[in-house]
Amino acid sequence: MANDKLIVALDFDLLHSANQTIDQLGDFVEWFKIGGQLFTAAGPTSVETFRNLGKKVFLDLKFHDIPNTVAGAVAAGAKTGANMINMHASGGLEMMRAAREAADMQADALEIPRPLLLGVTILTSIDEWSFQRGFDTKRKLTDQVAYLAELSQKAGLDGVVASPLEIETVRRVCGERFLIVTPGVRPRWTAAGDQRRITTPSEAVDAGADYIVVGRPITGAGNPREAAKNILQEIQDRSDP
Ligand code: C5P
Repeated sequence: MANDKLIVALDFDLLHSANQTIDQLGDFVEWFKIGGQLFTAAGPTSVETFRNLGKKVFLDLKFHDIPNTVAGAVAAGAKTGANMINMHASGGLEMMRAAREAADMQADALEIPRPLLLGVTILTSIDEWSFQRGFDTKRKLTDQVAYLAELSQKAGLDGVVASPLEIETVRRVCGERFLIVTPGVRPRWTAAGDQRRITTPSEAVDAGADYIVVGRPITGAGNPREAAKNILQEIQDRSDP
């Protein structure tokens, strides 16, 4: 079902605004994403509120720190009831392994399912030129994505966050069962904004994305409910021809 695949990004600074969006979409959208903005403004209450409404929560805080700190943050994230948590894969193998171990231990201790853990590869707002210039490298961006995906898998993570344009690369390196979550998704009828490596929702799903993350095309639309339904319809039409 297509609505298992859509994660709506709630990039608000008021819990009230996020709740309004859940009121509008909650009867047909299962997954919502809490990022740095909402979490910094509203804290773990935001995760608990949405979990109590029966929603699945992707806690998108993109941890990147020493292994001990990330392990502690992931354990705290698991305790909120989040279903998916991410970290920057560039934090390294040891950091990601510590995160996996902490999530396992916390889930066992609380007798809850372990949250899915994802490595962020290269942000979808970065294009080839700014990657090479920013990191002072001649390496191709897709090669770096492949390397970070492989590292995430080796560390015991469940998948990665990557651009829809890199799904084929990640699948080749990490196989079919490794989760791929793709932001950088834009229906043809909306603006790209700051996103660079983008495709449409149906192209992302066709390419093999397990989940697509969509924020502003839905939350910034005049009618968010209609926008989300249009996106789901587009995915459905392509996946059930
Ligand atoms: O509004 P938009 O659809 O661009 O939102 C995309 C969401 O996905 C944002 O919340 C952003 O923080 C997040 N994200 C991203 N690129 C990544 C990881 C997460 O755009 N690589």
